[in-house]
Amino acid sequence: MSVSSLPATPAHIAIVMDGNGRWAKKRFLPRVAGHKQGVEALRRTVQACLDKNIRVLSVFAFSSENWARPADEVSGLMDLLAMALAREVPSLHERGVQIHFPGDRSRLSARTVQGLADAERLTAANNKLVLNVCFNYGGRWDICQAAEALRLAGQPITEESIAKKLALSYVPDPDLFIRTGGELRVSNFLMWQMAYSELCFSDVLWPDFDAAELQKALVLFASRERRFGQTSEQLVVRETSPKSGASTC
Ligand code: FPP
Repeated sequence: MSVSSLPATPAHIAIVMDGNGRWAKKRFLPRVAGHKQGVEALRRTVQACLDKNIRVLSVFAFSSENWARPADEVSGLMDLLAMALAREVPSLHERGVQIHFPGDRSRLSARTVQGLADAERLTAANNKLVLNVCFNYGGRWDICQAAEALRLAGQPITEESIAKKLALSYVPDPDLFIRTGGELRVSNFLMWQMAYSELCFSDVLWPDFDAAELQKALVLFASRERRFGQTSEQLVVRETSPKSGASTC
């Protein structure tokens, strides 16, 4: 049975792209070479999401904690962002991708901030896929900035009001979370938004991720029963396959 015939295709996929450093180390290359290869994997994944009609893809490109990495790796990731903006945005725009860069921009260079804003403006009307490249993002930062915005506006703190101020308030919460690289952690990604995401962990290193790996995650997702706090009996009986019980991609 093809995934497109399954009812449970995720609208929003969130990915922690882990394993670039190990991919490079295995080949006696600098870590940044792994990140460069990671951009290729991201390009493949965006196309796979377009092909499979996924509406939203959010990836963790640089976390609030990544500043603690060696200076040459941090500057390598900044350079990679600049390079990706120049090289990838025109083709993403042509393919109808709407790009966003959720995250704290206060520590980024004026030139980078301008590049991010230009890419967002250029692609704002596109509607095939929303791509969130989370950069200098942290789930705790996001919740704090939302609470601070409400405090400054004198608005009450409720689940609804916080959700409206979060950095990804313009998209539904992720249905499926994928982490590559074999680690079983969420690592301060979309902490609030992933309350009911299905979790999928893959041993594949991010630079090796491709459409076939994505497909495995989609099949696993389709096998899960999403109860959102209800019981099985309360759910409408699903037409398709029984639960597989598998716990990894
Ligand atoms: C984690 O792997 C990966 C990152 C911290 C960076 C992810 C960035 C990319 C995939 C490139 C895309 C970037 C832009 C700017 C568009 P790791 O380095 O922790 O790997 P390891 O666990 O094997 O050391």
